[in-house]
Amino acid sequence: MKASEIRAMKDAALAEARAAGSADVLESIRVKVLGRKGLLPEIMKGLKDAAPSERPEIGLAANELKVQLQALIDSRKAELSRAAPAAGKAPFDPSLPGSWRGPGLRHPLSYVIEETVRIFARLGFTVADGPDIETDYYNFDALNTPPDHPSRDESDTFWLEPGRLLRTQTSPVQIRVMEKAKPPIRIIAPGRCYRRDTTDATHSANFHQIEGLYVDREVSMADLKSDISFFAGQLMGPGVRVRFRPHFFPFTEPSVEYDFSCHVCGGSGCRVCKQSGWIEISGAGMVDPRVFSKLGMDPETTTGYAFGMGVERIAMIKFGITDIRLLYEGDVRFLEPLSS
Ligand code: DAH
Repeated sequence: MKASEIRAMKDAALAEARAAGSADVLESIRVKVLGRKGLLPEIMKGLKDAAPSERPEIGLAANELKVQLQALIDSRKAELSRAAPAAGKAPFDPSLPGSWRGPGLRHPLSYVIEETVRIFARLGFTVADGPDIETDYYNFDALNTPPDHPSRDESDTFWLEPGRLLRTQTSPVQIRVMEKAKPPIRIIAPGRCYRRDTTDATHSANFHQIEGLYVDREVSMADLKSDISFFAGQLMGPGVRVRFRPHFFPFTEPSVEYDFSCHVCGGSGCRVCKQSGWIEISGAGMVDPRVFSKLGMDPETTTGYAFGMGVERIAMIKFGITDIRLLYEGDVRFLEPLSS
């Protein structure tokens, strides 16, 4: 067969494939031309009888037939299967409205972290960060925690190797910041913390805290109280009241814990606040002069307040979540009622 005849055959086969109305017809064209007993093998067999000078052109034409026809058949088959619905299915109707997925929602933990950062940013705080894997120096020693303090215990802390641990609090970020920056310092440090707690409805071995630190000259408890009260009003609404109770932390003196008035009952007592009218939020205090001294800062003239609050706790209170585990399960249905 001459090259010109092969080209004519190719054009005819391509035209046939273009006109084919079904995958079956396309398949029969493929078998007839490209199949094992089809035209193409026939042409190749005849190649040896052709004049040597014509062979290259015949070979080229045969190859074009093979490549072009196969490509056309493949694309037409794909086109037909897109257009023709599988047996039993309704044909695709482009005028039907799509299935609507609402816009995404922030996770409650992200919400609390982002809101807290936003509120403290208005008071001049910037975000600081520290590593999840800490040394005992930053997590305990520099924070004035004595060597025999129970929080260092194997049963409370995830020790990785001697001297290295998963941080149990975000407070070590305070030290890392004060090592580098000069007062005035105003930072807020959200992040993950780890404790060897058995998981239940209110405990998780991995949780989040937000640390705050303000260091300057003549910072007082009044600054702590006013800034925390401003934060409470912004986060929980204008009606919330804040109460400070004496407490102890190794790295603050004096130390306090503070509570928000219960947002459910407004303070009169209910199930959520266990009839007390108050909900415990966080620890805080005036940075202990010993912490400043260890860092080489003058404890006579340097003053500051610090606080560290649990993000899960605030999220659970704000959104009425009763089981901490829901926050980590990744079930998006859990987020739906939170949007209303
Ligand atoms: N780190 C403390 C904890 O995990 C919370 C805390 C209390 C942080 C007082 C502070 C602070 O910065 O001043 O229980």
